[in-house]
Amino acid sequence: MSILINQENGTITLHTDHTSYQMKADEIGTLLHCYYGARVPEEDLSYAVFRMNRGFSGNPYEKAAADRAYSLDTLPQELGTFGAGDYRISAVKIRHEGGDQALRLRFVKAEILPGKYALSALPASYEDGNEGCETLLVTMEDPEGSVRAELFYGVFPKKDVITRALRITNTGDAEKTLLKAAPLSLDFLEGDYDLIGFYGKWAKERVPERTVLRHGVQSFGSVRGGSSHHYNPSAILCDSSATEDYGRAWGFSFVYSGEFLLEAEKDKIDETRITLGIHPDDFSWPLAPGESFTSPEVLMTFSDQGISGISRRFHDFIRKNIVRGFWRDRRRPVLLNNWEATYFDFTGEKLVDIAKTARDLGVEMFVLDDGWFGHRNDDTCALGDWDPNEEKLQMSIAELGGKIRDLGLRFGIWFEPETISEDSDLYRAHPDWAVRIPGRLPDLSRSELILDMSRVDVQDYILRKMSSVIESAGATYVKWDFNRSVCDKYSHALPPSRQGEMAHRFVLGTYRVLEGLLSRFPELLIEGCSGGGGRFDCGMLYYTPQIWCSDNTDPIERLTIQYGTSFIYPVNTMGAHVSASPNHQTGRSTPMETRTAVAMSGTFGYELDPTKLLPAEQEEIRRGIGVFKELYETLQQGDYYRLTRPDDTGCTVWESVRKDRKEAVLTAVFDHVRANYTPVYVRLRGLKPDGKYKVSPVPGYRSADPRVPADSLIKEPVLSGSSLMNQGIFIPHYTKEYQSWQIIFSEV
Ligand code: GLA
Repeated sequence: MSILINQENGTITLHTDHTSYQMKADEIGTLLHCYYGARVPEEDLSYAVFRMNRGFSGNPYEKAAADRAYSLDTLPQELGTFGAGDYRISAVKIRHEGGDQALRLRFVKAEILPGKYALSALPASYEDGNEGCETLLVTMEDPEGSVRAELFYGVFPKKDVITRALRITNTGDAEKTLLKAAPLSLDFLEGDYDLIGFYGKWAKERVPERTVLRHGVQSFGSVRGGSSHHYNPSAILCDSSATEDYGRAWGFSFVYSGEFLLEAEKDKIDETRITLGIHPDDFSWPLAPGESFTSPEVLMTFSDQGISGISRRFHDFIRKNIVRGFWRDRRRPVLLNNWEATYFDFTGEKLVDIAKTARDLGVEMFVLDDGWFGHRNDDTCALGDWDPNEEKLQMSIAELGGKIRDLGLRFGIWFEPETISEDSDLYRAHPDWAVRIPGRLPDLSRSELILDMSRVDVQDYILRKMSSVIESAGATYVKWDFNRSVCDKYSHALPPSRQGEMAHRFVLGTYRVLEGLLSRFPELLIEGCSGGGGRFDCGMLYYTPQIWCSDNTDPIERLTIQYGTSFIYPVNTMGAHVSASPNHQTGRSTPMETRTAVAMSGTFGYELDPTKLLPAEQEEIRRGIGVFKELYETLQQGDYYRLTRPDDTGCTVWESVRKDRKEAVLTAVFDHVRANYTPVYVRLRGLKPDGKYKVSPVPGYRSADPRVPADSLIKEPVLSGSSLMNQGIFIPHYTKEYQSWQIIFSEV
């Protein structure tokens, strides 16, 4: 049993193998949050909740006369609500029919439901086989305000993950408006914490930033329609002394792809509250009598083994309990995408030539990117006209798909379903399908408008058009792109009083089309993309097992991007390709070996024209694909350890350890070289202390720096896991920039 409701002392305790979480309704029905951390016995932990009389932290009416030490403003609670005496950040805010906004919830009941709850029309984590999941459903009510809140907790005992979602119901007899409904609201009684968030921009996504949680509110979020390049809907809170491997840390990730807000507040008595939910700026949801609103869910995990413990728990969980379907456990095909190979300049024959050479080098799938439809020869037109341009291709899409398949390759194709060009037949036929505010000129980012995915007729149209292309092309892969932020949020299908629903309905519409595609084509592999990694979140990963990590394919820039992404997301979700050198985004030249080594710690593919490569480079593709397949289990399904921070030493080092701990792969990439080198030492992680490991270079690896033979530093060909993890190893000194070093440790 992972959920225990103790009738005697009133505690409700959730246990996973290594963590515990506790709540308890107090004498006036406030649902106290008592604990979230390392696993402890089932004891009443509310003894640690400290009460004292504090001026200006008010007292609820029923306590005021006798107990001024009781204040909603200081008690740790399961759900912070607005307007009724708790002045900290709130998770729920509702405007009642009278215009007031007070919400005071009291505990009604707690029930244990078998299995993990599901959420209708929303992505949500699920139980992988029989993992012993249970759901706790807690009901709270505001009897004066006629509101019911139901708190859903999904407990994954083996994975050390607890999920939360929220349902708010209007139990009164007049319409109310929900203004905020964040499923995460977590209070900490004590502690000095740091907050790690992930900021970025196009071509530089998910840069981890660790800041001291100071008094006041720290927040980040997105009002861009999607979860955004600019802030990821995830965070880690940790002890200020925590490191990669030591200290307590709590991880949070929103299973949602739209606008979000994360807030963290350290308050007047050094308590901390963190909330995460839909961004309230673009959200208001009318609730007629009896109507409910269900929030998306948030994942939570705790580790007392530092920040990397959070990463590994999330990696395992996302791989098995978020990603689903045909491709979840299968090795995904090594693909070649023609975007950086040709951009808009291609014919069907040119594509087939590229595909043929790629096939000869070991590539398994050819992906046709932007420019195959309507009259699209640049990025100013034709989005929405999802009819193949046979004149440009000089063949039908069915013929092209057939020729690619005849080569023994899979065929994949690009769409940008949620957008529409002003210069398109679709816009000319349905101007009201574009998101724009009547009487106002729209934002025209990348010369495109947003298609109103909140409308069911639009969703059905897109589903029909995509299905027909996928069918006629025989495509087994779709790259689902989304190339701008949403502005001018307005739907012609909603009345003025309900425009506050549009941003969330837009996301629900996208989810509905994704679900529709997957139920029609269960073996379809969808790769998410949003101008690179602008929508990299667990919501999308529920539908798209991999997401293009960034439009920046420079391997040196990718070191930071993939490093930052790895704090939350596993390697096998990060779209990564070997691209041409010099790189198209930065102009930097790098060795093929380094590009290959970096892309291997992602989904692995190519984004270049192989017909233009020298024989030695083609040979390197053949080698790279062979190595990727050989090390697949370790690199893609294993445990991931960040051994250095990019920029710190000039050398980024990471390690992947196979789940059975019989093999580990270490990759090191130099982003600059220094004279009179200070050696970079790393201690390996995750090996068997008593195991003996043979140290060898990755097969066929040729150092591009002839002065440093790849195995020059492997002086002890067999070492114990214990020595490797305690004494560590040093990374060979390279004398040229951008070199990489990859070695394997195999148990003998
Ligand atoms: C976005 C994607 C790229 C490519 C282009 C096509 O920028 O991230 O990979 O598909 O669109 O227009």
